[in-house]
Amino acid sequence: MTEPEIVLEMKHIDMRFQGVHALDDVSLTLRRGEVHAVVGENGAGKSTLMKVLVGLYSPNGGEIVFDGKPARFRSVSDTQAAGICMIFQEFNQVKHMTVMENIFLGREPKTRTGSIDYRKMLRDSEALLTGMGLDVSPRIFVRDLTVAKQQLVEIVKAVSYNARIIIMDEPTSALSDTEIAKLLDTVSALRAEGKSIVFISHKMEEIFGVCDRVTVLRDGKFVASDLVSNMDEGGLIRMMVDRDISAMFPKQEAKIGEVVFEVKGLSRKGEFEGISFALKRGEILGLAGLMGAGRTEIVEAIMGTRRLDAGEIFLYGKRIVNKMPGDAIGKGIIMVPEDRKRNGVALKLSVRDNILMSALRKCVRNGFIRRKLEKKYSTEYIDKLEIKTASDSQVCANLSGGNQQKVVIARVLNADPDVIILDEPTRGIDVKTKADIHNLMSQLAVQGKAILMISSELAEVQGMSDRIIVLHEGRITGTLDRGEADSNRIMQYAVGKTEGEVV
Ligand SMILES: Nc1ncnc2c1ncn2[C@@H]1O[C@H](COP(=O)(O)OP(=O)(O)OP(=O)(O)O)[C@@H](O)[C@H]1O
Ligand SMILES: [Mg+2]
Repeated sequence: MTEPEIVLEMKHIDMRFQGVHALDDVSLTLRRGEVHAVVGENGAGKSTLMKVLVGLYSPNGGEIVFDGKPARFRSVSDTQAAGICMIFQEFNQVKHMTVMENIFLGREPKTRTGSIDYRKMLRDSEALLTGMGLDVSPRIFVRDLTVAKQQLVEIVKAVSYNARIIIMDEPTSALSDTEIAKLLDTVSALRAEGKSIVFISHKMEEIFGVCDRVTVLRDGKFVASDLVSNMDEGGLIRMMVDRDISAMFPKQEAKIGEVVFEVKGLSRKGEFEGISFALKRGEILGLAGLMGAGRTEIVEAIMGTRRLDAGEIFLYGKRIVNKMPGDAIGKGIIMVPEDRKRNGVALKLSVRDNILMSALRKCVRNGFIRRKLEKKYSTEYIDKLEIKTASDSQVCANLSGGNQQKVVIARVLNADPDVIILDEPTRGIDVKTKADIHNLMSQLAVQGKAILMISSELAEVQGMSDRIIVLHEGRITGTLDRGEADSNRIMQYAVGKTEGEVV
């Protein structure tokens, strides 16, 4: 069989940032009508390579050949005009604009008199959105959409450019299973039309499910590129991490003790109702459910970022009220938020300051901040979570997506709380670090921490939880013990079946 024609080549790309050699002689060959996975650990250089392609970064060396001719794109709009569209890992939507304004940003349809033709914009947006099976009003503000919907709108936008090459940087990391299925269908449809897609992902089932070819990067270097059909999962992981990794979900047996934390009858109009559960020492309690089941809303209400209409929260049997996250943190309840861009990492601060933020007291002796202690704690977590950074004084904005997430996790752990709430703890995290984080969670439970974990990944919920609460549309539909939690039962509860109906 002859190979499809080459549409794009990146050759010997070299990219240096201060203190970091992000890309060292990296090449990529993209063919017509293929889905091309670019994989590697957090910080391997995947996003950087694509940012070089779309003209956001100008490389220190190497060349790009597009359609057989040397090309050097100077800006994202330059690249879009040439038919290459990138959906960024950190979306660049204008949050205070509507969905349709975002889709048509910079190329708004005009009326004959030259003003913006909002009617056409609305009609065209509606057609695009329904074409992708997306139930979103074009008139809603982007900031009012969930992360998942924002992501899908970005994809609709790329499709609307009729691009020949579409780059998706971890497109599914914030989506639910049904949304992922929809997205992957779209990817297949685009491929069938002869488009080429670069697909950055940490998820094996996506790489082996939809991708034709895969290029592996490690530490900024090219490792291999081959047809997915010539690869197996173990081999691919070894290429990425250069060693065998420990088993996934290495849950250790922890001694489960007394109730540490309890909520009774939590309700908030339109979001959740009658939520009651108790969390014990040494226990990992999983909150399962589909996207939109109200899980994040519940934990945000616990933390004090959302007001409760009704219900009570208890810590060691004493009623507490959290008006804001600071209250909760002061009492030893800390959360790793789902949307770490919005609520998590302080991009302008250093890695060190981010990690120490919630526990500066640990570094104070006799009223003075001890630099040595600061260094000790920040270095400890940089090592433990293998945060890839030039130094602990690097600003977080310069870290790769996955490494920024690790910083937020490090901060929470460093604060040494009694109750840890993790909202999608391993989203966007590479396979190896994921296993490390699972190990760490397990250890924390053994140390007697009480852990509440939200995860949309069934395998993670099943693998890590001692007990699982399943939610559907803001209500608890089922509670399962570790032993009885097969995926079929979890799913039945998640779609709204109750105790008696589940088989
Ligand atoms: N603007 C920048 N300034 C300094 N260093 C940077 C900058 N952008 C990226 N880097 C560094 O380059 C390396 C590669 O980062 P990149 O974002 O490409 O990784 P990635 O493979 O996309 O990882 P992830 O899976 O976490 O998204 C990292 O060490 C990162 O800290
Ligand atoms: Mg990235």
